[in-house]
Amino acid sequence: MVSNNQFKTEQEAFWSGDFGDEYIDRNRGDRILAANTALFARILSRTHSLHTLIEFGANIGLNLTAIKRLLTDIKCSAVEINQKAAAELRRMQDVDVFPISILDYRPEETRDFAFTKGLLIHIEPAQLPAVYSVLYCSSHRYICIVEYYNPVPVECAYRGHKGKLFKRDFAGEMLDMFPGLTLVDYGFAYHRDSNFGMDDLTWFLMRKGNV
Ligand SMILES: C[S@@+](CC[C@H](N)C(=O)[O-])C[C@H]1O[C@@H](n2cnc3c(N)ncnc32)[C@H](O)[C@@H]1O
Repeated sequence: MVSNNQFKTEQEAFWSGDFGDEYIDRNRGDRILAANTALFARILSRTHSLHTLIEFGANIGLNLTAIKRLLTDIKCSAVEINQKAAAELRRMQDVDVFPISILDYRPEETRDFAFTKGLLIHIEPAQLPAVYSVLYCSSHRYICIVEYYNPVPVECAYRGHKGKLFKRDFAGEMLDMFPGLTLVDYGFAYHRDSNFGMDDLTWFLMRKGNV
């Protein structure tokens, strides 16, 4: 079902509308920023010489803000479907904002690091191969996926909504789809972590060839 003509999928209409607007106010603040900083310190320690990156589904920039604290000269780009969130991203310094769906984004330049955090789980599963291609074509070095993992595809209720949350082995599917990708490292962020609790996210850092 597509509930908004502007978009291909009902999930895009959902995030661009009231649910997406309300998500912004529920998810901001110093605790989230601290947890993101701790998470990306771990991930980025497995990379080197990053100068450019792009996040898909960046919301108001809580990951980008954390990363900019760690890599102070990094040039950031962000793709975000929700216009209220994109407006906040535009207020950040040195962030190139694409206020569109990842399904409409055409990679015209590549970055050192392309990533998603909590985006793939909200994509209509039939669209995942196209989204994996966008991620792959947006980076010439690293690709990072921070999402809910499940060994087989499952759908779960999301705050009482159906068809809005899917868990699977996103990184494994990308590694199968693109033989040129290799796994660099992976890890887990646990909600019971006493300092930097996070939503049980699993991260996978991959790279293209040996660059
Ligand atoms: C669960 S939030 C995660 C936000 C952020 N990545 C983080 O880690 O805090 C999902 C984000 O992806 C955005 N989003 C959902 N579907 C999208 C799509 N098709 N294209 C671009 N952004 C999308 C939502 O508007 C929202 O900002």
